[in-house]
Amino acid sequence: MLAGKRILLIIGGGIAAYKSLELIRLIQKAGGVVTPVLTRAGAEFVTPLSVGALAKAKVHQALFDLTSEAEMGHIELSRSADLVVVAPATADLLAKMAGGRADDLASTLLLATDKRVLVAPAMNVRMWQHPATRRNLAVLQADGVLTVGPDEGEMACGEYGPGRMAEPAAIVAAIGAALGGGPLAGRHVLVTSGPTHEPIDPVRYIANRSSGAQGAAIAAALRDLGAKVTFVTGPAEVAAPGGVAVVRVETAQEMAAAVSAALPADVAVMAAAVADWRVVNASAQKLKKDGSGTPPALEFGVNPDILATISTGAQRPRLVVGFAAETTDVVAHATAKRLRKGCDWIVANDVSPATGIMGGTENAVTLISKDGAEVWPRMSKQAVAQQLAARIAEALV
Ligand code: C5P
Repeated sequence: MLAGKRILLIIGGGIAAYKSLELIRLIQKAGGVVTPVLTRAGAEFVTPLSVGALAKAKVHQALFDLTSEAEMGHIELSRSADLVVVAPATADLLAKMAGGRADDLASTLLLATDKRVLVAPAMNVRMWQHPATRRNLAVLQADGVLTVGPDEGEMACGEYGPGRMAEPAAIVAAIGAALGGGPLAGRHVLVTSGPTHEPIDPVRYIANRSSGAQGAAIAAALRDLGAKVTFVTGPAEVAAPGGVAVVRVETAQEMAAAVSAALPADVAVMAAAVADWRVVNASAQKLKKDGSGTPPALEFGVNPDILATISTGAQRPRLVVGFAAETTDVVAHATAKRLRKGCDWIVANDVSPATGIMGGTENAVTLISKDGAEVWPRMSKQAVAQQLAARIAEALV
């Protein structure tokens, strides 16, 4: 999968550095060549000897190393690879990258490179959730830095939550996708996400509780499999993932126009919670209390059904996936919806408040296709996204 590809692997200082040794092995097994860089902190966790022996290459450690500079300067080192991978990417390394610092070899290479960068964050859950790390990650993703993980689970520090470095096999898959070798390479996938806002007047609108978390995770998972993703999003709480083409819209009508402008696509995943109705007598001025005590009468009109339109349109993607957020009889309603809308699959879920799914981090879905209903266990929205992306890749073969 990585035949002849050159990976500059920067190993940061975290307990997950031990997994980087396995990562080196797996990259080589896939045909890749590793040039290792070990940060000062990284060398506290794994030795240059084990890294160099496994990589069968010189381990680069110091910025001001005259022998290295004479052999291959740091600028050349940063550019001679096909991809730069940072694993583990510690909170400190991410902060340095986001700030454009260059005070050691690793950060200098990351600033000097003209190649794509893939980071595999690994840190304590509090550090991962800290607003500073969130900010740094958002900056990096906006810069086009690719991410893989972190996973959720038990951490070396004894805490539980997101922060564990992605497994080496997942990092190798992400490397393959970043280099254009993923199973969805060359495919264009359209993803809709988030709520829509339907104005009542210039300051008020009707919306719903969709956070956009599931749609964003799906776009990221499809991107990680190598797809070119167009991400049409309403005003969501969750940030759009990096490495996808983002089209921001507010209303259902705008979303419908953006979706049709994004065609043709091989696949459409319509995860947006589109408002069914809009206010047709929305006021151009802010509505005022007129003193009579009578509230304004809002008149509703029906919004375009984007999913049904794309499913029956002339430019129908080969695979159209809809969502069904239900609060009762999930499978029966979703099965009927699949036929009514004309899509291939429906990802159905129960969004009754008691499930905590709407706006939460987990999802419990049932995949409805012509072959019937398949109940998936409750898992993180990220895991649902990865499983769905993998199924999409299979379906396109
Ligand atoms: O009709 P309902 O909202 O239950 O169907 C949900 C599915 O239909 C989702 O995939 C949603 O993105 C899509 N939808 C749409 N346009 C609408 C309403 C829903 O594309 N106006």
